[in-house]
Amino acid sequence: MGLKHLLTVNDLKKEDVDAIMRMASRIHQGHYELLKSNKILATLFFEPSTRTKLSFQSAMYKLGGQTIDLPINSSQTKGESDADTIKTISKYADVLVLRHPKNEIMEYLSNYSDVPVINAGDGSNQHPTQALIDAYTIRQYNHRKEELTIMFTGDLIHSRTVRSLLELLKLDEFNLDFKLHLISTCKYYPIENYINISDVKFTCIDENQIDQYIGEVDVLYMTRMQAERHIGKYVNYNKFIMTKELLDKMKMDAIIMHPLPRNEELPEEFDSNYRAKYFQQVKNGLFVRMALIKYII
Ligand code: NCD
Repeated sequence: MGLKHLLTVNDLKKEDVDAIMRMASRIHQGHYELLKSNKILATLFFEPSTRTKLSFQSAMYKLGGQTIDLPINSSQTKGESDADTIKTISKYADVLVLRHPKNEIMEYLSNYSDVPVINAGDGSNQHPTQALIDAYTIRQYNHRKEELTIMFTGDLIHSRTVRSLLELLKLDEFNLDFKLHLISTCKYYPIENYINISDVKFTCIDENQIDQYIGEVDVLYMTRMQAERHIGKYVNYNKFIMTKELLDKMKMDAIIMHPLPRNEELPEEFDSNYRAKYFQQVKNGLFVRMALIKYII
């Protein structure tokens, strides 16, 4: 057991996932002990964030720890490199939470840290802590099912949360206890490219077929258009917008998930529907990140 860094989902073994999920569930029920000594978590976000950064900071405070944050007017404005920044801050903190616009840069950057590094998102590549939160939320509402149908919609090609969740579901040892059927709007990116397990069923659909399939889904996982990642050519990958008619076709016990932030694909009017679980996902983020901090520190 033990996790040096959490840079990609592939750093996790079954025992890590199980331990973090169990601990998150105890924290959810209000049972947890504070960290033993006065620990410091540093957040270094080179890309915008609301939930990920603040939930890590809040999680650390709830555990009795402290946080420091890379200021906007850091020495990077004087040309200091990311590597030197990380080398420096890792002397002040017990764990670093790092977000960066560049894909697959985490391994390189983690080499400069004396303390564990948690990837809070690298480009369109990985977002392993969001995957843990999403898997926790899926388990929370679906633990009695034998078969689980998840539909992914939106800008899948640029979604690090979808990619990471698929990789977490793929973890051989990470047995969700149900057979998976994954449906996605795959015109631009077939999700099979992320996950290839023989016993997972895939259905590739067009956006105008969503209404034919929506009645089958247990989990609808929506994503926004990641306009900031469309360098050069802008393609609207996300023409799907939730409507009352579609919601009415969904199973009574289906859930709607979204990593947030959302845009026009998920109008606010659906927030009060009992199937809308994206703000529960936000809340679970605190429990899962508290558990992860305790596990990694
Ligand atoms: C996502 C992210 O940053 O990848 N948000 C999050 O962390 N909850 C999704 C997004 O930006 O669309």
